[in-house]
Amino acid sequence: MQYCNSRLHHFLTLERLPRNVLLELMDTAERYINNGKVEKRPLLEGKTLVNLFFEASTRTRATFEMAAQKLGANVINLDVARSSAQKGESLSDTVKTLAAMQIDYLVIRHGTSGAAKFVAQVLGNKTAVVNAGDGPGSHPTQALLDMLTLKQQGVDFPNLSVAIMGDILHSRVARSQIHALQTLGVADLRLIGPPTLVPDESVFGTRVFTSREEGLKDVDVIILLRLQHERMDGAFLPSLETYYRDYALTEQALNLANENALILHPGPMNRDVEIQSHIAESANALMLKQVTNGIAMRMAILSTLKAF
Ligand code: CP
Repeated sequence: MQYCNSRLHHFLTLERLPRNVLLELMDTAERYINNGKVEKRPLLEGKTLVNLFFEASTRTRATFEMAAQKLGANVINLDVARSSAQKGESLSDTVKTLAAMQIDYLVIRHGTSGAAKFVAQVLGNKTAVVNAGDGPGSHPTQALLDMLTLKQQGVDFPNLSVAIMGDILHSRVARSQIHALQTLGVADLRLIGPPTLVPDESVFGTRVFTSREEGLKDVDVIILLRLQHERMDGAFLPSLETYYRDYALTEQALNLANENALILHPGPMNRDVEIQSHIAESANALMLKQVTNGIAMRMAILSTLKAF
């Protein structure tokens, strides 16, 4: 589905994305960063990218726009709230309409799992479709920028202990991160969360912990996730206070991990819900590096898809 004539044409999921492609994308992103600054590379002059976001976003939308601009492409941010989708136009007709404007890239975020794949099927090879998050399905560009952030810290993926903690059940980020970490050979991958918000061990083939204290013991990397209330259709938790007590990354909980454990969060963060606020400011908290890397990683993805 992502490939056309053996070339990466759409970017929809990290599931079954070969390890060499994942590594090449990270290397490409690193080449776009010089002394911490993401450089311009006018590789997409004359191309047009449309950001089509049916769900709210700060990081993903803005960094796709910056990535496209640094590559020299024109960018249109379609305001979905003022688009003809509000008049009842279907997703299929909306994207066919945009493709008829001879756009080259369509970056889509949608609340339904599978929406990006559906759009790629509708558009075929005319337009490159990039998944910027589809419901609880996947968020492949986020997971790749997270891997880049870890790589920059000099980690050895196969020897890394990684814990993903929070609302795993509703998290597209977690799904994509699990695929990426497994592809990179991470053997000790743990999912931590309340019983109502973690899948059972058979789903991803990882260890699952409902005890934060057991799950965080001796890990090298802690990836936090927010509670995704927008995808919860009932009461998954007794209260935010009990969630903080049992599943937040507090100073005490952090002490269970290895010294200098790295802390990631895809954002947006809810301080004093999933993370004790001051920990987000510590030297090992990489959230703002993740944001900057989002520009370079998305440049790497767009310039790789340029091949069509
Ligand atoms: N991580 C992430 O997708 O953030 P935004 O919702 O701000 O794009």
